[in-house]
Amino acid sequence: MTRVAIIGAHGKVAQQLMRVLYDRGDDFVGVVRNDEHADDVYRLGGEGALVDLESAEANTLAAAIAGCDAVVFAAGAGPGSGAERKRTVDFAGSTKSQEAAAQAGIRRFVQISAWGVDAPVDDTDPVWKAYVEAKRDADAALRASTLDWTILRPGGLTTEEGTGSVTLGDTVPRGTIAREDVARLIAAALDEPRTIGRQWEVVGGETPIEEAVRALVASA
Ligand SMILES: NC(=O)c1ccc[n+]([C@@H]2O[C@H](COP(=O)([O-])OP(=O)(O)OC[C@H]3O[C@@H](n4cnc5c(N)ncnc54)[C@H](OP(=O)(O)O)[C@@H]3O)[C@@H](O)[C@H]2O)c1
Repeated sequence: MTRVAIIGAHGKVAQQLMRVLYDRGDDFVGVVRNDEHADDVYRLGGEGALVDLESAEANTLAAAIAGCDAVVFAAGAGPGSGAERKRTVDFAGSTKSQEAAAQAGIRRFVQISAWGVDAPVDDTDPVWKAYVEAKRDADAALRASTLDWTILRPGGLTTEEGTGSVTLGDTVPRGTIAREDVARLIAAALDEPRTIGRQWEVVGGETPIEEAVRALVASA
């Protein structure tokens, strides 16, 4: 059994991930910033940990996730937030989580980033620009770390039921994907050590998730 720390556990991908982990018998600690949300993690079969990523020190987060085998970073400032919170959550929340994982002796780190963030941002919307730069810089920091990382970059997220099939690759055409399928992909990545050091984009598609992962790790 694996014990997974989920950062941003009240998020919509994270909630799907907790269902997947529970169904397969994995244990999890859900890091949230609100007491009621910690209760939701307990209801989904895990343990809630109350840490605000923006105000807490890395060592507080490290203590909350100590004993886990892997960290999944699924937090984000979310729609409606300004440029500043893209930086404090999507970027600094990730780098703080990376630091906390290292402090807690947890090597495995799976990050949910976003499709296309390495492309130059010619959009004039400063919030969108801040979002793309935060994701891109958080990914760069993780790649430069000594952690056993995997970076997953989904296209537009939907709340539709997952199909269990995706288009996965170093780069894939723009598209959407059900959050449930992102959650299944995270679980598949946690299962496959050859996903360490890999960064993939993903959208909905025709290839069953495990098969898509197997094909890519075999072709490396
Ligand atoms: N939306 C898209 O189409 C899209 C596409 C590609 C990638 N992504 C990325 O995919 C990831 C997951 O998406 P999602 O839809 O599951 O996101 P979500 O539902 O917005 O969840 C993000 C979570 O991060 C938490 N968070 C924010 N600030 C925090 C803080 N200071 N301390 C602790 N937790 C904090 C939020 O907590 P609260 O619930 O308390 O606010 C929220 O539960 C995000 O990183 C997102 O940027 C999104």
